[in-house]
Amino acid sequence: MPFIHLPQPWQLSEREVTPESAFLNRRRFLKGLIGAGVIGSALPLVGCQKEIAAKDAPFAGTTALKVPANPAFVSGGDRPLTSDFLAGTYNNFYEFGGNKHIWQDAQALPLDNWKVEVTGLVKNPKTYDIDDLLKFPLEERIYRFRCVEAWAMVVPWIGFPMNAILKAAEPASEAKFVRFISYYNPQITKGPSFPPSQFLPFPYVEALRVEEMANDLAFFAVGNYGRTLPKQHGAPIRAVIPWKYGFKGAKSIVKIEFVADQPATFWNTISPGEYKFESNVEPDVSHPRWSQKQERLVGEGEDFNWKEMPSTIYNGYGEYVADLYA
Ligand code: MTE
Repeated sequence: MPFIHLPQPWQLSEREVTPESAFLNRRRFLKGLIGAGVIGSALPLVGCQKEIAAKDAPFAGTTALKVPANPAFVSGGDRPLTSDFLAGTYNNFYEFGGNKHIWQDAQALPLDNWKVEVTGLVKNPKTYDIDDLLKFPLEERIYRFRCVEAWAMVVPWIGFPMNAILKAAEPASEAKFVRFISYYNPQITKGPSFPPSQFLPFPYVEALRVEEMANDLAFFAVGNYGRTLPKQHGAPIRAVIPWKYGFKGAKSIVKIEFVADQPATFWNTISPGEYKFESNVEPDVSHPRWSQKQERLVGEGEDFNWKEMPSTIYNGYGEYVADLYA
């Protein structure tokens, strides 16, 4: 990649620079207008469409997916479940733009005939279609989610442990890492308006050590909140690695590749000093531009009722993963 001064990946968008109270008041005001029938139910309201939406609009195209909860992972600890509406309207998906409100733009993601290729240093390479993926024993898990930007949620994911793919693939002993490669088609995934996409290392790639992939917590999600995954959350399949910062969880995966050497990853390529390969949640290790000691939990209400909370080592999952880093 040519050396250019990129605006930092977590550059604040309009949502973040608007003082919280002004933003919330505007939302309440707009919702009041909708409730009173003064303006129609949201879309497309020029200039405002990012902030108000019909209740079910963010879940367009999803279908019901009800599966048993795994009793080992049924709570967010001391934290309430984030509402589906909040989780589905406050997202990062740089293939569709650099702001948090990309759920509408992400609807352009084409899901027809989706394939996920498992390849590389494995005994059993295989290409899965969605029906194949849905045949893995699915379960629901409620996981705390912590973004490197210091916001947090609690999300009920539906999917299967990554270990199921690992076992089916049988990686060779030289395979030390696994890469997850996201869908990329520059005609469709146009990227942020600035910097232009061609200066970013798309496709989005994230990676783990094979032992991390084998950990009980590492999960492939094909749904959340009792539905198949909405596009903005990374339909039809995305990685969820709850003890790491959220950017490790690649969305809309098309390829899972086992390799010998530590692969280049998206944010680490853009800014290695800020986004480490490992990127476990570690409150005592500050991001160069902000502390990681606290996080802002999205509130239970309709509005972003952020609540400051202390962050926890490995996002509270130390009992499962500390051994990996001993
Ligand atoms: N995957 C892809 N392909 N593209 C992205 O931009 N953003 C990451 C991660 N996975 C991203 C991605 C980041 S920074 C975060 S915090 C989470 O997705 C956000 O997941 P959510 O929008 O479902 O909450």
